[in-house]
Parts: sequence; C-alpha cells; structure tokens
Amino acid sequence: MTASPVASVALKLRSASAGDEQLFLTWRNDPLAIKNSGNPQPVSPEEHGAWFRAALADPGRLFFVAESQGNAVGMVRADKEGTEWILSWSVDAGMRGRGLGARMVAMLVEKLEGTVCARIRGENLPSLKIAKAVGMREVDRDESMTYWKLTRPSGGARA
Ligand SMILES: CC(C)(COP(=O)(O)OP(=O)(O)OC[C@H]1O[C@@H](n2cnc3c(N)ncnc32)[C@H](O)[C@@H]1OP(=O)(O)O)[C@@H](O)C(=O)NCCC(=O)NCCS
Repeated sequence: MTASPVASVALKLRSASAGDEQLFLTWRNDPLAIKNSGNPQPVSPEEHGAWFRAALADPGRLFFVAESQGNAVGMVRADKEGTEWILSWSVDAGMRGRGLGARMVAMLVEKLEGTVCARIRGENLPSLKIAKAVGMREVDRDESMTYWKLTRPSGGARA
C-alpha cells in the first residue's frame, strides 16, 4: 500500500476499554513494535490479557485508541511515574508513514498536564522525530536508548 499524507483526515483519541484487548495485543506483538520495545520479546495472549486488564484498572495509566474515519489506527499510552508521565505509542502497521503517529502523540500531550517523557531506541527515527515535534528534548542516552522530556507546570490530566 502506498502511504499518503492524511493531515486533513479526522483523527480522535478515545479511551481504551476491555474490548480493545486483542487490538492492543496485535500492536504489542507487531514486529517493529517488538524491535523498538524496551522488552523486545513477544507476549502471549494470556500474559497480555492479565496485564491489560490490570493496567486498565490502574488510575496511573491512561490508554487511548486513535481512530480515523471509524477505524482504529493506533494507540497512545501515558504511565504515571512519580510526577511525570511516560508516553508510548504505536501506529497500525498498515497506516504508518502518513503523519498519524505525530498527530496522535501531539493530541495525547495536549490532554496531559505536567512533565511528559519518552524512552526511545536510538534507531527509531520516526519516534525520535515525533518526540522533537511535540516539544520534547533529549535529556540522556545510553548504548541503545534515548531519553526525552518536556517539562511543563502541574501534574494532573485534563480528561
Ligand atoms: C513510531 C511510529 C508510531 C511512527 O508512526 P507513523 O505514523 O509512521 O509516524 P509519522 O508518519 O507521524 O512520522 C513521524 C516522522 O517520522 C518520519 N518517518 C516516518 N517513517 C519513517 C521511517 N521509516 N524512517 C524515517 N523517518 C520516518 C516522518 O516523515 C515524520 O517526520 P517529519 O515530521 O519530519 O515528516 C510507528 O513507526 C510505529 O508504530 N512503530 C512501532 C512502534 C514503536 O516504535 N513505538 C514507539 C516506541 S517509543
């Protein structure tokens, strides 16, 4: 499929629910997502199911599905660590390279208050660009990972 820009296509974030378990498993076990993950191993449906149900019930984790024209095109997530939100994201394999990743992460950052961070593999060029585009700056790096942060006042979430 030839990727085309979709800057004008409507995109919205909706809160994830229990019915999204399989969708999130598909995105979690996508080969590129595995390669770029902090834990680069596939997860089993059982392991994922237990984790996903517990994570949805945790007020310190926010999960959103990005939808375009009624189709789920990706996910964004924010995990509270102390006073900071750690962000992660993934776009469906068939929908990459069209600007959706950058837009959905920007929408998540807009929803949150306070400091937002991301941990990104040094070779994950699209994600490095997304972090820059939403105003994060690289604050540290090690042999494989880069660490990004955008410091802003307050620490809550705008629902
Ligand atoms: C990272 C990911 C979400 C990017 O989503 P996407 O919708 O393809 O990204 P976009 O189309 O918004 O592109 C973002 C930027 O990266 C660039 N880009 C996209 N694909 C690229 C590629 N393969 N190589 C280099 N740059 C690329 C785009 O041109 C854009 O840069 P620009 O603003 O300068 O034009 C997607 O590749 C993905 O789901 N990867 C697997 C999961 C993952 O890595 N998650 C992040 C973990 S931190």
